[in-house]
Amino acid sequence: MIKLHDKYFKPFVSAKEIDNVLERLVNEIAKDVGDEIPVFIGILNGSFMLTSDFVKKYPKPCEVTFIKLASYEGLKSTEDIQRLIGITQDLTDRTVIILEDIIDTGNTLKEVHRIFKNEKVKSLKIATLFYKPEAYKKDFKLHYVGIEIPDKFIVGYGLDYDGLGRNLPEVYQIKETQHMTNLVLFGPPGAGKGTQAEFLKEKYNLVHISTGDVFRFNMKNETALGTLAKSYIEKGQLVPDQVTIDMLNAEVEKNAQANGFIFDGFPRTNAQAQALDKLMDSKDSQINAMIALEVDDEVLVKRLLERGKTSGRKDDADETVIRNRIKVYYDETAILKDYFAAQDKYFGVDGVGSIEDITERLSAVINKL
Ligand code: IMP
Ligand code: MG
Repeated sequence: MIKLHDKYFKPFVSAKEIDNVLERLVNEIAKDVGDEIPVFIGILNGSFMLTSDFVKKYPKPCEVTFIKLASYEGLKSTEDIQRLIGITQDLTDRTVIILEDIIDTGNTLKEVHRIFKNEKVKSLKIATLFYKPEAYKKDFKLHYVGIEIPDKFIVGYGLDYDGLGRNLPEVYQIKETQHMTNLVLFGPPGAGKGTQAEFLKEKYNLVHISTGDVFRFNMKNETALGTLAKSYIEKGQLVPDQVTIDMLNAEVEKNAQANGFIFDGFPRTNAQAQALDKLMDSKDSQINAMIALEVDDEVLVKRLLERGKTSGRKDDADETVIRNRIKVYYDETAILKDYFAAQDKYFGVDGVGSIEDITERLSAVINKL
């Protein structure tokens, strides 16, 4: 992974792959051009590296020159293409091949065609190393395409993000999500998980995803996933993991700009933990830690009985029920503790003390991640 300015990028196309693609393009073009002496025109700035490597591979005599256009601002292509250096030589009756680093919307290409409208070239062909078919909005033919890529921002090998990255010999793609801190929060009933989640959410600007809340929200709003989940719940069956994961996926996508997530109530099984890892991986991210609030059983029982006096929750009133809930919690989480501990991601935090003290202890763990 690399960072340019404020953004993170992941490796996407290696120098070796680029070299192979160039080799292929050179061969195709050399075959079509035959014995003519072509003029290769690189579009600056992006194509300087490509043009250099390309012509070094070109097996026969050729000419090389450049046009300089500018359109991009940050991560976005703009309609307004500036012509900084145009054609500086007579191209009448010449075979001209444009070398582009990347074709995105096609705005730049439109400007290239405008530049050539009054030139009496023998032929004008377009070659591009990268092409984003989903972003391309023009009809101009692309004669030679190196690699078709999804509509995601890339840097390296001539391509920049606000000036940086052009010198990289390989290509990187912007991460789906930027740098995140993702926590799985655990705690037995009465440990103060909800209270702490609220504080952590504020302090670190995290999004708190409680699967219970997400389910209720989706069912209440009768989303497709909510309706599906309800059909299981009403039959008294467990909601299949995939349905839950799909809901979490939607939540994560909705909050792709967040600093991270606090997962609460999920995962509960090994399979779910694996599914969550897979989900985060697909978002170019990961679970950084499982944090469990540790509170002695007797303290929990006392706290819950105390809460039961005012909360009106039936399950907080009966000591046997409380002890059973605590037992279920430990039975469930023991497996997960092992799962995360195996990745050095398990952190137990003493959950006895003042709210502030406990927040401090949790923060100490998070700050070290
Ligand atoms: P178009 O005019 O939208 O086709 O975009 C062409 C120009 O935008 C390229 O020559 C690049 O300078 C720039 N560009 C398009 N996509 C990217 C990208 O993913 N990374 C960096 N620059 C890009
Ligand atoms: Mg360019």
